[in-house]
Amino acid sequence: MKAVQATAHANIALAKYWGKANATNNLPAVPSLSLTLEGLRTTTRVFFDSSARCDEVYLDAAPVEGRPLERVVALLDQVRALAQMQTRAVVESRNEFPTAAGLASSASGFAALALAATHAAGLHLPRSTISSIARRASASAARSLWGGYVALPALGDCAEPIAATEHLPLYMLVVLTTRRQKKISSTEGMALTASTSPYYRAWTESAPLVFEEIRCAILDRDVERLGAAAEHSALAMHASMLAARPALRYFSPATLSVIDRVYELRSSGLASFVTMDAGPNVKVLTTPEHANQVEQALRELPEAVEVIRCSGGPDAYIAGDA
Ligand code: PMV
Repeated sequence: MKAVQATAHANIALAKYWGKANATNNLPAVPSLSLTLEGLRTTTRVFFDSSARCDEVYLDAAPVEGRPLERVVALLDQVRALAQMQTRAVVESRNEFPTAAGLASSASGFAALALAATHAAGLHLPRSTISSIARRASASAARSLWGGYVALPALGDCAEPIAATEHLPLYMLVVLTTRRQKKISSTEGMALTASTSPYYRAWTESAPLVFEEIRCAILDRDVERLGAAAEHSALAMHASMLAARPALRYFSPATLSVIDRVYELRSSGLASFVTMDAGPNVKVLTTPEHANQVEQALRELPEAVEVIRCSGGPDAYIAGDA
């Protein structure tokens, strides 16, 4: 069996996924829609090795253990079941992010792993099936199989592309406020929100409407409407978390300072809209026309440890036999 290497890019949700309809199958309770990002890349090499006694996984050359290893093994088990084989694998993954920490890499990581592992096992599967395999490991990873704007329906088995990057070329400025990793995983955070937040139901009921607004705004190339709805999706998601017991608060004073600055830039006429995930970093959506000015203003903030400018990224791809 030959080794195969695949590359996938991170994605940032404009319509957020938060909450599982079925925890065992990892099916999302709400529809989500993301933009795949150029520049935030994971490359993963998989080799099914008949002499290996257990799966060996390395991330940036360091051995992976504990829960992260279990998640990789679970994905490899899906591939082995489909290929009807028992062979263990050696997995080597590299995050080619401009900075090592502070950014969620599970989406690009599991998408690259699903693509490399299925090819290394000799399976020729439709991309939607590979997206479904990635989705069981991390729902947001299902979206990273495609470039551009990608949706994952509520209860959806796999993601589906909505529009190419070129349809509506936008930039995402990723503003790192810290390089520390998040303390509570999204899986734990979703379970806590669903079981204790009185606003969780309101979130799941309103999210489909916001998703639809975002989908239509992308198709209509309506940046103002897209930005306003994406900001609302992120803040409504965080509001549902804040009402959990104990409260789940991923953002920090630095997050709020960046948000305030974005509001000022918008008042001054620059297209800029915020979104945040399960961490304190802020992602700012802007247009090619305003990207330079918005980026410059964000770089001047003392709270910005680093600003990474990303355009829309491509489909995940096989990077060659390795
Ligand atoms: O796929 P997960 O379990 O990493 O969850 C992702 C959750 C958010 O990043 C907060 C939102 C999203 O849709 O990506």
